[in-house]
Amino acid sequence: MDNSQYVKWFRHSSPYINAHRGKTFVLMLEGDAIADNNFAHIVQDIALLNSLGVRLVIVHGARPQIDQALNVLNIKSQFNGDLRITDQAALNAVRAAIGIVKSDIEARLSIGLPNTPMHGARIRVVSGNFVTAKPKGVINGIDFQHTGEVRRIDRRAIGQQLDQGNIVLLSSCGYSPSGEMFNLAAEDVATQTAISLSAEKLILMGKDEGLPSNKAEEEVISQITTDELSQLMSRLKGEHKIHAQSCLTAVKAGIKRAHLLSHKVDGALLQELFTHEGAGTLITAGDYEQLRQASIEDVGGILELLIPLEEQGILVRRSREVLETEISRFKLIERDGIIIACAALYPYSTELAELACVAVSEEYRSGNRGDRLLNALSEQAKTENMKKIFVLTTRTAHWFMERGFSEADISALPQERQSLYNFQRNSKIFIKELI
Ligand SMILES: CC(C)(COP(=O)(O)OP(=O)(O)OC[C@H]1O[C@@H](n2cnc3c(N)ncnc32)[C@H](O)[C@@H]1OP(=O)(O)O)[C@@H](O)C(=O)NCCC(=O)NCCS
Repeated sequence: MDNSQYVKWFRHSSPYINAHRGKTFVLMLEGDAIADNNFAHIVQDIALLNSLGVRLVIVHGARPQIDQALNVLNIKSQFNGDLRITDQAALNAVRAAIGIVKSDIEARLSIGLPNTPMHGARIRVVSGNFVTAKPKGVINGIDFQHTGEVRRIDRRAIGQQLDQGNIVLLSSCGYSPSGEMFNLAAEDVATQTAISLSAEKLILMGKDEGLPSNKAEEEVISQITTDELSQLMSRLKGEHKIHAQSCLTAVKAGIKRAHLLSHKVDGALLQELFTHEGAGTLITAGDYEQLRQASIEDVGGILELLIPLEEQGILVRRSREVLETEISRFKLIERDGIIIACAALYPYSTELAELACVAVSEEYRSGNRGDRLLNALSEQAKTENMKKIFVLTTRTAHWFMERGFSEADISALPQERQSLYNFQRNSKIFIKELI
């Protein structure tokens, strides 16, 4: 990558950096992920997220490590479907395996050697008795013994750790108020933690790169709604089914976004979180995009969108201060927490309003977003009894002409706007009657 590409890439990721700062993500890693060669890279990406201000809860599984410990102890584990029946002997193996995996993750997050991406990262990882468990009980006559379910998550205690910038590490186990330990599914811990913390995202890292598409097994579905996923469930198997079910539960309980990623792909986490294309499957409740009124918190995101267009001379420069005072005039389209389009309406007289700052992020053009904003602002103008809207443009004349605007003379502008007209810029004026 040459320097200019690097600068471009960095600028493109900055809206995501701003959107993720201060947000809570719950990230689940299967026991297989910890044993994978790519795990060192995942740890570095976790460190990067922490340094960018993401509030991170990591939930780890330990299934292969438990199998290994049982093997060493020469114990044969009983399963019912995918679920292990954890008797007292198996519980000892669970305890040993979870202890080893937990300390391995803590050790890796402590690396601060020079010449590594972790140099100077100084990450604090905290774990504790944050998960209260209850026994799964006897189902169809089978006693699952020490196999349990999440009963409660200590949201306050976890929140306090996250407030201090610490990473919280949870294992796939929990304790009952009577002091017994229970073996839990990591997916259950991750899902219930995300719900309890009202996390922004639940991210499950498994063996595969998201869910396979209907068309070809090797093709991955990049985005899917919960309704679409529910219809797909019957054809999913194994890990896909278990992870998809967790995402459905989480999103239906109010988590905005759940992601399925592969722990085998180097950089999958960063690609999913900081690029438009992503690297796995994103599961959301419905429309990923929302057209809404802008508020003061959106000023940073709108500036990110406008600055490149201002630098190219397509839009007139607006300072942060101006934007802050005029924010109520803006509508925007938000997708995945990022502002991808905006437009503003400035009324001049009782009958005439200016349409300005119409901008759609480059990656999202030609998806009718410009049209959606134009329609929304035209409707708003009509409800405010405006008869006409006008726009000043240097390079987008035809886009407006194709949408019913006609070229007009400067005398068509209200007096107040005529005195602000920049003759050097020589913008064309287009006007449209609202019917
Ligand atoms: C103009 C703009 C807002 C349109 O947004 P969008 O969401 O891509 O628009 P839509 O999907 O509704 O329309 C896409 C159509 O507009 C066309 N279009 C885009 N820019 C155009 C331009 N400058 N002139 C003429 N047509 C243009 C596209 O080619 C596409 O046409 P097609 O479907 O026939 O291929 C977007 O291109 C943009 O942000 N441009 C830079 C900022 C700008 O010029 N703003 C206007 C300042 S007043």
